[in-house]
Amino acid sequence: MRFDVITLFPEMVLQGASYGVTGKAIAKGLVGLSVWNPRDYTLDKHRTVDDKSYGGGPGMVMKYQPLFDAVCAAQQAYPHQCRKTVCLSPQGKTINQALLKQASDYEQLILVAGRYEGIDERFITAVCDEEWSLGDYVISGGELGALIVIDALTRLQPDVLGDENSAKQDSHSDGLLDYPHFTRPEHLSAGDVPSVLVAGNHAQIDSWRMKQALGRTWLRRPDMLEKKRLNAEQQKLLEEFKTEVDVYK
Ligand SMILES: C[S@@+](CC[C@H](N)C(=O)[O-])C[C@H]1O[C@@H](n2cnc3c(N)ncnc32)[C@H](O)[C@@H]1O
Repeated sequence: MRFDVITLFPEMVLQGASYGVTGKAIAKGLVGLSVWNPRDYTLDKHRTVDDKSYGGGPGMVMKYQPLFDAVCAAQQAYPHQCRKTVCLSPQGKTINQALLKQASDYEQLILVAGRYEGIDERFITAVCDEEWSLGDYVISGGELGALIVIDALTRLQPDVLGDENSAKQDSHSDGLLDYPHFTRPEHLSAGDVPSVLVAGNHAQIDSWRMKQALGRTWLRRPDMLEKKRLNAEQQKLLEEFKTEVDVYK
């Protein structure tokens, strides 16, 4: 999968993606990342990317033409069949794991990071396939959103994580939150590692982890549990958790 980010702050995106899992995946060629600055596609000597809003009001609006030409350049440089152009916007669909899972099959994702008061509406309707939101709040630019999307989608690409099961067990991948994790030492003044995790019985460990995942989701995100179909074993584990509830609140 490759990512092309349309941004007035290309260094911010390249730098942000250069660490950890995303940085390694890019270095190994498992995902591609390029940045396209609309300012490089302006036609006037001042390299103008924004203008006043028709009808007045505060703030500047990103112009259609430099954004359009930047997207065309990204499309022409990497002509993929399966591609989507997404504008980061607080007015879009809220990004969640299900949306990202669907998008993980695209060959190319062009992410448009807005700035200022926003983007000329004609660009959004004519060029973008979708608008995606980080949530019900407003930040100053779409670059952080683009980085979040790139990171989350990179984790879902084959061979990126050391263990393929890692992403599958993450919170939200199967409608549940992740179970709690512990590492050495076994005993701390803050508490002991649950004995089942050190006893070495893998069936019991799996069962304990499923119970914790179900219980946590029930405690913290009952809305998620309402949408999930539990099998008989999971229902039994959840009932058990409810009787032990004060242990890991
Ligand atoms: C200051 S915001 C503009 C907000 C716009 N006036 C509105 O109220 O819908 C500038 C840019 O930041 C990005 N942005 C801000 N909040 C966002 C959010 N919750 N999710 C995704 N992108 C966001 C978008 O790319 C947006 O074009």
